[in-house]
Order: sequence, then C-alpha cells, then structure tokens
Amino acid sequence: MSANNHVLSFRFAEPADAAALARIEAESWPAPLATTEEQWQARLELFPQGQIVAVFDGQPAAVACAQRITAAFLAAGPVTYDRITDGGTFRRSHDPHGEIYQLVAVGAGSALRGFGIGRRLIDRQIELARSLPGVKRIVGITRPARYFRHPEMSIAAYVDLRNKTGRRFDPVLEFHLGSGASLVSTHQDFRPADTESLGYGVLIEYPAG
Ligand SMILES: CC(C)(COP(=O)(O)OP(=O)(O)OC[C@H]1O[C@@H](n2cnc3c(N)ncnc32)[C@H](O)[C@@H]1OP(=O)(O)O)[C@@H](O)C(=O)NCCC(=O)NCCS
Repeated sequence: MSANNHVLSFRFAEPADAAALARIEAESWPAPLATTEEQWQARLELFPQGQIVAVFDGQPAAVACAQRITAAFLAAGPVTYDRITDGGTFRRSHDPHGEIYQLVAVGAGSALRGFGIGRRLIDRQIELARSLPGVKRIVGITRPARYFRHPEMSIAAYVDLRNKTGRRFDPVLEFHLGSGASLVSTHQDFRPADTESLGYGVLIEYPAG
C-alpha cells in the first residue's frame, strides 16, 4: 500500500461477503481462531449493520465485527468466547436492543497491517455504536497475543509490560489501550484455542460518548 494510487473505502458487510470475510479471517488469525464462512453467514443474517468491511482496490481486505449484548447476559456466566458469541454465530448472544455494543474482532491480512486500517475500522465501529439508541457501553474482549512469550509473568504484569519506547509490549493490547480504551478485567480460559494468548481474554472499554 505504499503507492498513492490505491483506493480504500469502508462499507457495511452484506450476506454475499461471507466467503470473502472467511478468507480475510484465515489470513489474519491463527487457524483455530478464524471465523468460518458458516459463522459469518449467521452473523450477517443477524446483524449486518454491525459488520464493517475495509475494501482495498475493490476487494474486501479487513473487517471489524460487533454484536449487541445485554448487561445481564454479560454478567450471567463466565466470560468465554464460546458463551459470549454463541460459538461464533451470535445466535443466542446478539440482542438487537442490547445496551452493550461489543467489539468482537478486528482483522487485517498481514500484507495490509500497519497502515492504520484496523484503527479506522474500530473508530468507525465506535462512532456507529455512539449513534445507536440504547447503547450505553462499548466494550471488547481482546487478546494478549504475545503472552506466550512471557508465560512466567502474571497477566496483570503482562498487560502493562512496556517496550523501550514506553508502548505496551503486546501489539494487540497497545492497539486498543493505546488508543482510548481502558482495561476492565482479564479472563483466564476465555478462549483455550488461543494458545498465543495462553487462553486469556482482556475486557476493554471505550467511552460511550
Ligand atoms: C490487530 C490488527 C487488526 C491491527 O491492524 P492494523 O491495521 O495493522 O493496525 P493499525 O495500523 O491501525 O495500528 C493502530 C495501532 O495499533 C498498535 N499496533 C498495531 N500493530 C502493532 C505492532 N505490531 N506493534 C505495536 N503496536 C502495534 C499501534 O498502537 C498502532 O498505532 P500507530 O500506527 O500509531 O503505531 C492486526 O494486527 C490483525 O489483524 N491482527 C490479527 C488478528 C487480531 O489479533 N486481532 C485483534 C483481536 S480483536
């Protein structure tokens, strides 16, 4: 994306995007974590207006995914990926009137990273969430993606681990916590298949207004 004659735009996802979004996920995420075409189909049936796609040179190239959940649902049981997303489908988790706008995932293929596309997708999601009647909180459960490099540390110490420039060691935590989100809580066994994160999830929150 170094030359200036590329075209980047953003739009809501459509049901016909399910296969393309599954391809983006496969390029962005470790294999066991990538959302499948079937899971995208379910999400796009339930809440297409919460799925924002970055289109680069005419092709879907990155995606930020969200659902609405109720505070009661979040509080009702353990914070695990399977429960909070109903196995990645949103079928029993998404509530169109839920007062919590949950950023579920953002992914960009490795060739398009570092150009601000992920940030712009999340900023659009936050702007959208703030415009929706009934949304009181904007949260995400993100991943400490390089925790596997420091398994000897407690999760609390790892979240705050800094590099020489003062930014967080973990790029995904820095992606959110360095751009306006605050840390709410950490959750062991959030997603056991996320071995890079040692299974942990980190609940973060952006200001709702
Ligand atoms: C996380 C992800 C979406 C970031 O997308 P991106 O388009 O590369 O990110 P951006 O260019 O918008 O970066 C925004 C900020 O994130 C942080 N960041 C992103 N990559 C980073 C890295 N490798 N190291 C340190 N900080 C990083 C920086 O604070 C950066 O701000 P800067 O540009 O001022 O330095 C992308 O790396 C990805 O798809 N990862 C795999 C899937 C995943 O783990 N998703 C997040 C879980 S919800």
